[in-house]
Amino acid sequence: MNFDLTAFRAEFAFFNQQPDWVYLDNAATMHKPAAVISAEAEFYQTFNANVHRGAHQLSQQATQKFEQARDTVAEYLNTRAREEIIWCSGATAALNQLAYGLMGTVLHPGDRVLISALEHHANIVPWQFHCEQLGVLLDVIPLDANHQLDVAEYQRLLALKPKVVSIAQVSNVLGHIQPVAVMVQQAKAAGAITIIDGAQGILLQQPDVQQLDCDFYVFSGHKVYGPTGIGVLYGKRPKLELLRPLLYGGEMIQQVSFSGTTLNQLPYRLEAGTPNIAGAIGLAAALRWLQPWDHLAIAQHKQQLLQQLHHGLQQLSGIELISQLQNNAGIIAFNIKGEHHSDVAALLNQQQIAVRAGTHCAMPLFAAIGKSGAVRMSLAAYNTPQDVARTLVAVRQVLEILS
Ligand code: ALA
Repeated sequence: MNFDLTAFRAEFAFFNQQPDWVYLDNAATMHKPAAVISAEAEFYQTFNANVHRGAHQLSQQATQKFEQARDTVAEYLNTRAREEIIWCSGATAALNQLAYGLMGTVLHPGDRVLISALEHHANIVPWQFHCEQLGVLLDVIPLDANHQLDVAEYQRLLALKPKVVSIAQVSNVLGHIQPVAVMVQQAKAAGAITIIDGAQGILLQQPDVQQLDCDFYVFSGHKVYGPTGIGVLYGKRPKLELLRPLLYGGEMIQQVSFSGTTLNQLPYRLEAGTPNIAGAIGLAAALRWLQPWDHLAIAQHKQQLLQQLHHGLQQLSGIELISQLQNNAGIIAFNIKGEHHSDVAALLNQQQIAVRAGTHCAMPLFAAIGKSGAVRMSLAAYNTPQDVARTLVAVRQVLEILS
């Protein structure tokens, strides 16, 4: 295994500044390496200007770096063309653009959209809202007893010929990895447009969108070591052309007059307004920084941490594990029997263990598994075996306090 954990962790100034914290809230947002922070700082300090607009050299430099950032993302995802990368503020914005943009173009009254019971609210509520407005039916793949998607039900719902299938690559609550490659093939065979919410899956392995063959793939920069407020909507060009823009304004137009407006070409047609220039540059810096590391070795390291955490919790009496170890991207959801998840998280916070508690923007998932919420510990490659050991000591202490 070729992974120097000490060197990797040293890239993150946060751990020097806050040596007493164990950070296990990576599914919410990740820390940023020096490469990302300095790329953003360099933009603001040396060539801050708006893109595609200025007559001056600074604007040209900003535009060049901004468009180079698009190339970096396009290469990372292995798209067919750079125009297939649309900047947005994050996976939520991308999914909102998709739900809005497909209504009335691809989706018409009486059509069906298929999502799953484990989706984040961002992949539920936009569909729910727009489907209701237009009279489109929304179907939901249920979970099986292991909190995995029910494959048989998926086949049955595909037989109803949904026009769109939109599914998460990884559950943000449970960490369970979904078989999206197979699901996309089956959805395509059923004639559906396919969307993968890669918010929690982008770090699983470098996505090859041509191989996945999905029509759309979305993710947020801050869940791949990048900045907040920047994300990506990837789409196959002909499918992007189908989208009705969610935002109208500057940059996305070609010609405006009071007798009519013509829209710009891709990718600008879907990028109204001044973009998050520093964010795009920072996200590209994150991907460039990440690429040379040994991804297989990182995955093995994360799996070892996950096993250490899962086994450690399993050995403590009073713990109810919700996440399964198999096919898990690095998240453990659990409860202490008879205790409220918020109390557990608050007691962990007192010991400087950062976790998330609640329903994690996935209330339907909790309804499906019959729980009111959970404590969630989400791992990243910069976490150490010592982090996990300290966390297990802290959980033991919480159990003692609450007993
Ligand atoms: N969607 C993020 C999470 O799961 C914020 O925590």
